[in-house]
Amino acid sequence: MEKMLIEGGRPLKGTVTVSGAKNAALPAIAACLLTGGWHSIKDVPRLKDIQTIKSIMTKMGVIFKEEDGVLRINSDEIKEHVAPYDLVRTMRASILLLGPLVARLGRASISMPGGCAIGARPVDLHLKALAAMGVEMFLDKGYINAKVDNLRGADIFFDIPTVTGTENIMMAAVGAKGKTVLRNSAKEPEVSDLARMLRSMGARIEGDGTDTIVIEGNQDLHPAEGHTLVPDRIESGTFMIASAITGGEIMIDGCRYEHLASVIEKLQAAGARIEKREKGLFVAGPRVIQSVDIETMPFPGFPTDLQAQFMALMCVANGSSIIRETVFENRFIHVSELKRMGADISIHGNQAIVRGRDHLLAAPVMATDLRASASLILAGLEARGGTTEVRRVYHLDRGYEALEKKFQSLGARIWRVPG
Ligand code: EPZ
Repeated sequence: MEKMLIEGGRPLKGTVTVSGAKNAALPAIAACLLTGGWHSIKDVPRLKDIQTIKSIMTKMGVIFKEEDGVLRINSDEIKEHVAPYDLVRTMRASILLLGPLVARLGRASISMPGGCAIGARPVDLHLKALAAMGVEMFLDKGYINAKVDNLRGADIFFDIPTVTGTENIMMAAVGAKGKTVLRNSAKEPEVSDLARMLRSMGARIEGDGTDTIVIEGNQDLHPAEGHTLVPDRIESGTFMIASAITGGEIMIDGCRYEHLASVIEKLQAAGARIEKREKGLFVAGPRVIQSVDIETMPFPGFPTDLQAQFMALMCVANGSSIIRETVFENRFIHVSELKRMGADISIHGNQAIVRGRDHLLAAPVMATDLRASASLILAGLEARGGTTEVRRVYHLDRGYEALEKKFQSLGARIWRVPG
């Protein structure tokens, strides 16, 4: 298993371009199951999770071609409708195949995604919504077996604004007879990006980006032509925090202010100088980092996927901060690893109290999940006293494209070495 070696203490300077969003790419690729023909999607990031969903869909009979940075997808021949356990267990977002498969074929067999490091990650809201649309489902040997003869639109209220739940049901609704209304739906930019792609395929969808989305089903669909994914706001936020924690000056090309307003507000409160530029955002880190409280919330609130990274910043802030994680029940796994680097953090239920120190201390640490590994990289970029070693970086490769190369281009002393 590979690991990252990092010599901290250097301010990062320069320009970096963010990749297309992982969490927009996954539903976009799944949506190509809705109709045959050659779809094309641009800015698909080179990530392990993208490989995983491509492997699952290839087994189903879908053809993928990569041509000058454009991903072309053909689902004319869907030979089977099974998403196998050994692949689904490595990527829970495979549940996104369920909606388009029942819309296209009227049946699907998806391994029930297990939990992961950050929580139980149930899919009950996805299944409850599909049942309301007439889908019969039963669990057998760990697989969700779904069947429907007459998929119909429904009026659905999500108890929680689930991101992939909203996306899954939006795709099912496109293939259903009649109208579907999604209430208390997720408002994330990736949901809107999927709606934009589905509209380009002929679907009739309104209200994406708000908490009520209306889909008129049963439209004739044609393949998506050159759908360009939104930039990855979580990667962007990770670089913004990297600039703040190293006292650097980074130009982040491709990111969008409107996707990051909550993060910008908190980083400005911490003392960073952030300027909107033509191609993205310029972020200058503060000389002294001020402590700031955050509470993770569904979009447009502070994203849970940047909580671990922001915590690393607060570990070297002036004063104490309270970090509340309200989205997932176990998203403080990075805390014990940050404490190995000298961080002063105490956990009280879903709140972490971080008491800022002057610096973190280089140490060997273990990545446990995607965003926790990013947090440890940021901590390593700040740490003094030698080389930080971040092990199990395969977690990082699920969601960041060539992160160490991007950091190297900003002057960081970071290397990927065999484990
Ligand atoms: C998406 O996960 C993202 N993944 C996650 O990013 C992100 O952290 C999360 O949204 C929240 O923003 C993708 O888009 C592929 P949810 P998702 O359903 O859809 C509960 C990353 O690092 N819930 O919005 O699985 C759930 O337990 C990943 O890129 C139910 O109870 O998250 C959680 O507490 C990590 N029942 C809350 O809702 C359900 O049926 C929000 O989860 C569904 C969700």
